[in-house]
Amino acid sequence: MAFGNITGILLEEIIAIKGKLRMNLSRLVVPSRSFSASAVRNAAINQVTVIGSGLMGAGIAQVAAQTGHKVNLVDLNDDVLKKAENSIKTSVSRVAKKQFKDDTEKGNKFIDETLTNITYMTDNNRSVATADLVIEAIIENVEIKRKLFSSLDKAAPSHTIFASNTSSLPIKDIAESTTRLDRFGGLHFFNPVPVMKLLEIIRIPETSDATYNKMVEWGKNMGKVTVTCKDTPGFIVNRLLVPYMMEALRMLERGDASARDIDTSMKLGAGYPMGPLELADYVGLDTSYYIVKGWAEKYPDNTLFENVPLLEKLIKEGKFGVKSGEGIYSYKK
Ligand code: CAA
Ligand code: NAD
Repeated sequence: MAFGNITGILLEEIIAIKGKLRMNLSRLVVPSRSFSASAVRNAAINQVTVIGSGLMGAGIAQVAAQTGHKVNLVDLNDDVLKKAENSIKTSVSRVAKKQFKDDTEKGNKFIDETLTNITYMTDNNRSVATADLVIEAIIENVEIKRKLFSSLDKAAPSHTIFASNTSSLPIKDIAESTTRLDRFGGLHFFNPVPVMKLLEIIRIPETSDATYNKMVEWGKNMGKVTVTCKDTPGFIVNRLLVPYMMEALRMLERGDASARDIDTSMKLGAGYPMGPLELADYVGLDTSYYIVKGWAEKYPDNTLFENVPLLEKLIKEGKFGVKSGEGIYSYKK
């Protein structure tokens, strides 16, 4: 990087010298061997790696790229990555249409710059070689997440902050697979990431103030409103939202009302943008199932977390919601 040998100069001074640089100060980062370890640790987040390119990973990568970060987006194979690339292209066009509705040229520039900022790859270790922040958004399974982070811990530079986007798993259980508990936290985004304004930031007791502050600052740079929560099941939103979605499934299972009427009721009677069953399909029934299954195993006495047989049946039938074309509703064209 161009500023690799300007050790010791404050970032503000660099900005002054490079007055023409359009890059936001808070994102200017200098990952260089000539920097002391503490200087590198204090540098801001510029290079982001997102592991998992599904619903959430693609959205996080897109928003990071839109806000000027260089992003490596990683998944298991090229086919999945191609799908993610297509969904990002569609989504970023929607954002551009909205943000630059009176200026097509600026809109096209925004699209080009966003897409150029993302590199797609399948090599986890290579993807983190120069990362300032790694966000994991893979399947909701603690053992698989731990295995991933344990391997990334050996490949990533020491200053790199690790974060999980898990919906329900204890951040500490995942963090303990690494040697960097002070540089570990939860960054919980919401679906669809380009639209939902909230970012939950989760600290474990070991998360350092420096790491926490950087996560907050980065969240703001991503254009999100941040809230902070302890490492408690479901954090804030899912602790309320998931039992609500499960209760709607139980209501459907009992035959109290039709799926359409349950959803219509919560939209028109409670002002939600989607009904609970539509939302479960949108989130992914598989993800919802893993969340509740994990909690039911961990907290067997809490009736809010009880398994829902209807959900289990749909999963066994391969009905994962919008992503698979069928869930509680059918999305087949
Ligand atoms: N990318 C970019 N823009 C998008 C988008 C996407 N993927 N999806 C929607 N939009 C934009 C559209 O361009 C549109 O913009 P305009 O209004 O300017 O035209 C706007 O969002 C509304 O979209 P639509 O008209 O297509 O549809 P809608 O009005 O029904 O809104 C929705 C769609 C934003 C998803 C809305 O239904 C909604 O807010 N649903 C609830 C979502 C929710 O609760 N998410 C949280 C899930 S829980 C979670 O994420 C945590 C977890 O761990 C499980
Ligand atoms: P998804 O099924 O859409 O995507 C997961 C992706 O991870 C898939 O593309 C899969 O191929 C990939 N993957 C799995 N194992 C991998 C590995 N070892 N290395 C690289 N890639 C791997 O799931 P999602 O909905 O994006 O959820 C991802 C995470 O985000 C989960 O922890 C989930 O709980 C959380 N989350 C989901 C939502 C939601 O609404 N769906 C919201 C917030 C958080």
